[in-house]
Amino acid sequence: IKNIGVFTSGGDAPGMNAAIRSVVRSATYYGFDVTGIRRGYEGMINGELFAMDRKSVSNIIQRGGTILKTARSEQFKTPEGRKLAYEQLKKHNVDALVAIGGDGTFTGARIFGQEYDIPVVGLPGTIDNDLSGTDFTIGYDTAINTVIDAVDKIRDTAESHDRVFIIEVMGRDSGLIALRTGIASGAEAIIIPETKTDLNNLCERLEHSRKDKLSKIVIVAEGEDAGGAFEIGRHVKERFPHYDTRVSILGHIQRGGRPSCMDRVLASRVGVAAVEALRDGHRNEMVGVIHNEISYTPFEHACKHTVEINPAFLKIVEILAI
Ligand code: F6P
Repeated sequence: IKNIGVFTSGGDAPGMNAAIRSVVRSATYYGFDVTGIRRGYEGMINGELFAMDRKSVSNIIQRGGTILKTARSEQFKTPEGRKLAYEQLKKHNVDALVAIGGDGTFTGARIFGQEYDIPVVGLPGTIDNDLSGTDFTIGYDTAINTVIDAVDKIRDTAESHDRVFIIEVMGRDSGLIALRTGIASGAEAIIIPETKTDLNNLCERLEHSRKDKLSKIVIVAEGEDAGGAFEIGRHVKERFPHYDTRVSILGHIQRGGRPSCMDRVLASRVGVAAVEALRDGHRNEMVGVIHNEISYTPFEHACKHTVEINPAFLKIVEILAI
C-alpha cells in the first residue's frame, strides 16, 4: 500500500473530523500518502479526490460535521457507478480505503471490496450506535448528550405548565439513542422499534406513574412502529383530554455540535487502528472498540442489525418512573 484514500459517507456524526484527522496523521506517521475524497461515494465517482497532509487536518478535532462532506449515493449502488469510482481511484493512485460511516457505507464498501482488488477498512461513524462490532459508534456520545440537554430544557417548561411531552429522537431503525437518553432524562416511558408498541399500555403507564405529577416525558425513537410521535401524541390526547399534551421532534440538531471528549478519543483511537490494520493486511472489516480493546468485524456482521437492546435498561425506566 502506498496511498490511502479516506472519506465520510451517509449521515454525518460529531467526531468524524477527529477520525479524518487521525487517519491522515497516522497514515503520514507510517509513511503512506493520503488522498481525501469529498462527498463520500458520490465524490469518488465524480473524481473529487485531493492530496492531504498533516496540515490539512489542523484545528478540526473539535469541529462537528465533516470537512470532507458527505452524501448518500444512489449511483454507487449500481455496478456502473462502482466501476467509475474504481477508475477514479486508479487515476489518483489510491490503493486502499478508509470508509467512515454507518451500515449503508459498509454495505457499499463490502460489495466494492469484493468486486475490486482494493483493501477497505471502515470506521463506525453514526449517531445511531446501530453497528455490531463496537460498543459505541463515533457521534453517539455527543448526540445523546445533545438530546439530554434538549430534554432537560423541555422539562423546565413541561413542569411549569404541567404538560405531557412526547419527544421524538433520531435512530432510523434503532432505539439506542432513545434508550439511554430516556434513562438519563428521567423519562416516564420510552418507545423504541425493537419492542412492540402498545399505546394502551403506554397510557396506563402514564396514568400510574407519579400520580401526583401531571408533567411527564415520553421519549420516542423515530423508527418505532406506532406511527410516529404525532400519532402517539394524538392517542394520548384522546385518552386523556385533561392532559395538556405537546409533541416535540428534536431532528437534526442531534447530528451537529462539537464532539464530546469520548467521541474524539474513540475517533482518534480507531483512526490509528484503521491505518495499522491496512498496513497489517486487514480488509473488508470495521475497526471498533469492544470492552476497551480494538476489534475487527467483517462488514457483513457489522451491518447485520443485530445490536440488541438490553432489557435491563427498559426495566430501569419502568422502576424509576414509579
Ligand atoms: O443514520 C443517522 C440518521 O441521523 C438517522 O438517525 C436518521 O434517521 C437519518 O440519519 C436521517 O437522515 P437524513 O439526514 O438523510 O434525513
